[in-house]
Amino acid sequence: MSRRPPFVVTRRIPEPALELLREAGEVWVSEHDRPLETAELHEAVSGATSIVALLHDRVDGELLDAAGPQLRCVANVAVGYDNIDVAAARERGVVVTNTPGVLTDATADLTLALILIVTRRLGEGERLIRTQEPWAWHMFFMLGAGLQDKTLGIVGLGSIGQAVARRARAFGMRIAYTQRRQAAPDVEAELDASFSSLDDLLGSADVVTLHCPLSDETRHLIDADRLRLMRPTAYLVNTARGSVVDEAALADALREERIAGAALDVFEREPEVEPGLLKLDNAVLVPHLGSATFETRTAMAVLAARNAIAVSRGEEPLTPVEP
Ligand code: GLV
Repeated sequence: MSRRPPFVVTRRIPEPALELLREAGEVWVSEHDRPLETAELHEAVSGATSIVALLHDRVDGELLDAAGPQLRCVANVAVGYDNIDVAAARERGVVVTNTPGVLTDATADLTLALILIVTRRLGEGERLIRTQEPWAWHMFFMLGAGLQDKTLGIVGLGSIGQAVARRARAFGMRIAYTQRRQAAPDVEAELDASFSSLDDLLGSADVVTLHCPLSDETRHLIDADRLRLMRPTAYLVNTARGSVVDEAALADALREERIAGAALDVFEREPEVEPGLLKLDNAVLVPHLGSATFETRTAMAVLAARNAIAVSRGEEPLTPVEP
């Protein structure tokens, strides 16, 4: 087995995080400006005590075994950790950490941006201008939907869902939400949020926005049947994980105008996008930019580095993934 420094970073991350890791030990960073292939990843982690992983890295039992029994921590630079087999890590005594909190505002901001883009047809308008085809203002030109007094249906009222709700209230929206358990009374009171079942929420919301983690329970949560529950004037926004939505079924619903529009930041088979969506004017498609600000990406990487360093010192990690 090749000898590896204690910290293996699978792809370049912001310098302040690398500096912290270098102060704490030897660091190996992939020199490739792309995700590592499985074999490369297995080779890279061999002998590591900590892996700083990115959301495109598949961390499964095989990778953990390729790392070896000295592995202590996988620090994911993301709040979502569906790329990691947490049970396999736990079986091997490996701590898994993520980066909650530091990306809440950036992701909520992007969600509001997407709500505005899709309801006001801004992508379509921008494309029209760039075609240089003649256009002229008139009373009925490119009308969209306003947000005031409309209902925002939030699937998953965790920190990002709550941050989205606060912003949406400033736009005059009413808040409805669904999740496994009803939120604490103080959260509901602050947001004036009403709890409902998923199906009722889909049938009544003007905009549905997804903020649940991807798990076996939420894979294709929004499938063809659930899309049929949505109103023809409603919009779907996804900044969570692509596989929460059945993308092919969504493309059908949009093409048949069974819903008014969708705005997606995440896709089922990233970086691929369901071809059916590409042709549709009522689909807004952006490339996984939820946390993509300089400040947020630095904060995420620094938090991941701090987690990896804490575990390497035998201390409690700052943000372990909940069992
Ligand atoms: C980004 O998608 C994240 O989970 O942090």
